[in-house]
Amino acid sequence: MTAKLIDGKAIAQKVREEVKAEVEKMVAAGKPRPGLATVLVGDRVDSATYVRMKQKACAELGIESFGHHLPADASQEEVEGLVRELNADPRVNGILVQLPLPSHLDEEKVLQAIDLEKDVDGFHPINIGRLAQKGREPLFVPCTPYGCIYLLKEAGVQIDGANAVVLGRSNIVGMPAALLLIAENATVTVCHSHTRNIPEIVRQADILIAAIGKREFVRGDWIKPGAAVIDVGINQKEDPTKKRGYRLVGDVNFDEAKEVAGWITPVPGGVGPMTIAMLMKNTLRAAQIQNP
Ligand code: GUN
Repeated sequence: MTAKLIDGKAIAQKVREEVKAEVEKMVAAGKPRPGLATVLVGDRVDSATYVRMKQKACAELGIESFGHHLPADASQEEVEGLVRELNADPRVNGILVQLPLPSHLDEEKVLQAIDLEKDVDGFHPINIGRLAQKGREPLFVPCTPYGCIYLLKEAGVQIDGANAVVLGRSNIVGMPAALLLIAENATVTVCHSHTRNIPEIVRQADILIAAIGKREFVRGDWIKPGAAVIDVGINQKEDPTKKRGYRLVGDVNFDEAKEVAGWITPVPGGVGPMTIAMLMKNTLRAAQIQNP
């Protein structure tokens, strides 16, 4: 193995401890305890698990959490009405609407209803728009891409001037990750389902962020020697030695890539824990903005 392992679990733990200490400082100074509202619509098992993990992180860090669960057939008016109530609630500093929403709902309109100062997911069109423009600062940056950049910086990877390749152009990860890399002065190529000759493009990458949701898609011989590989994928792979019958693997073939890369994130224990850590950091920031 040539690659240095980027330990997302340890880095996320450090971020969480820093947030916890800042929360205690705020409370000791007589400020209200930060609060995060979660909105879950419907009964997707994965979404319910993520929301539970976010609420548990709040409890550990001394952040209040306010859980809201609407039925799968909730109307657009009900969801937007709940968001407006949360906008008006001074105990709520951050609002997280778990995505994806059921398909009959207009996601953009729901995200647009969130008060900009409470948009701790950074998905409000104005926050994303600011991220896309030179010299403009979003109030919040989406948690998973923020975590990817944070990992690169913690590992000491040079982003300025690097050739970066992002696999995937989703609103939640790929596109904001590309925008963040541009803001950090990388030269960025975004690959997606219509891209021709992905391996050739990946071979140019000093930094690779893989977020396409295809298990072990990236092979070792696509990796430029010494590159930094950030694997956002979380995919199931059959494994009869495990009690549940599968194990989790990323979008990169880890065993192959670790022999070529300079740095690599494992799955699990890489990007995954960073998403919640950055959400906690964003929630603290929201509380600091609202209660200066
Ligand atoms: N669904 C998948 N990732 C995310 C995320 O970071 N935030 C929200 N709200 N929903 C998601």
